[in-house]
Amino acid sequence: MPQNTALLNPVAEGYSQAARLLKEGRCVAFPTETVYGLGADARSDAAVAGIYDAKDRPRFNPLIVHVPDLDHARRYARLGPQAQALAQAFWPGPLTLVLPLAGEGLSALVTAGLDTVGIRMPAHPVARALLKEFDGPVAAPSANPSGRISPTSAAHVMAGLSGRIAAVVDGGTCGVGLESTIIAPDLPEGARLLRPGGLSREEIEAVLGAPLILGAEGQAPVAPGMLASHYAPGATVRLNATSASPNEWLIGFGEIAGNENLSPAGDPVEAAANLFAALHRADATGQPIAVAPIPDAGLGAAINDRLRRAAAPRGEFDPG
Ligand code: TXA
Ligand code: MG
Repeated sequence: MPQNTALLNPVAEGYSQAARLLKEGRCVAFPTETVYGLGADARSDAAVAGIYDAKDRPRFNPLIVHVPDLDHARRYARLGPQAQALAQAFWPGPLTLVLPLAGEGLSALVTAGLDTVGIRMPAHPVARALLKEFDGPVAAPSANPSGRISPTSAAHVMAGLSGRIAAVVDGGTCGVGLESTIIAPDLPEGARLLRPGGLSREEIEAVLGAPLILGAEGQAPVAPGMLASHYAPGATVRLNATSASPNEWLIGFGEIAGNENLSPAGDPVEAAANLFAALHRADATGQPIAVAPIPDAGLGAAINDRLRRAAAPRGEFDPG
């Protein structure tokens, strides 16, 4: 059934309306510092099912649960020593922790039946105000239709989901621009990096005092979304391009100017913040897309992860 999607302002009235809609089991998109999330009450099967319906997601991936504070996190998950250290260092912020499920109350749709749950305390003031007002756990994947580029503005969300969700809280442009880094801490073998993202591996390793375990080897759960090409533009994407072929739209970096430049100064943090908006704009041209090489250090690793998936052949991936 088509819905009238309200665009809400980040003021007291907007938060109370958004929180009321969430309590009614409706879906509300809201900004986080990484990307816009499509939120629903994580305790309600019907509300969480609404997320899958709105996104047209073909499959049930586990969803990240967003909480206003550490107390709420402890209601649903057990935090071991590494988890506590990481939460203390990086929450609120662009870090998701995959933790053993503890306590009750989350919809089984949120965890997709796993005995772990991904939890994150976002730092964006609009997300924090909404979570505080709602005073409960909010399940939220990125607020894009399945198989499309993640949204970093309310306009991106509206373009993809208008008519399919109850509301969008407009909090401007997302500062980080890449989804959260996902870590599974306190495993017998240490802490595993499940998805590179807006918090660099180097920063996390500095707090843990040990290297993260990379890759999917071993028995630990892999973030199913790691297989997803949910960053895919409609056009083909060519990586490590030092110049544009005829008709290509070149996304530049550093000295490779391109049709637009992710960061003329070659700063991976600035490039991350611009990445998805640049892909949205490139996609809108209808031209094949080329992207300049980006060094792998710091957030460059997460940028390259997203670009590899944008460039990957379609069909063999599970869109998220
Ligand atoms: O920055 C972000 O993380 C954004 C904002 C909205 O918070 N959210 C986001 O959600 O990127 P989504 O649904 O697009 O990606 C969630 C990822 C998927 O790869 C999923 O498989 C993984 O988190 N995940 C969630 N719970 C998990 C669990 N228990 N075990 C392993 N992976 C999990
Ligand atoms: Mg996503």
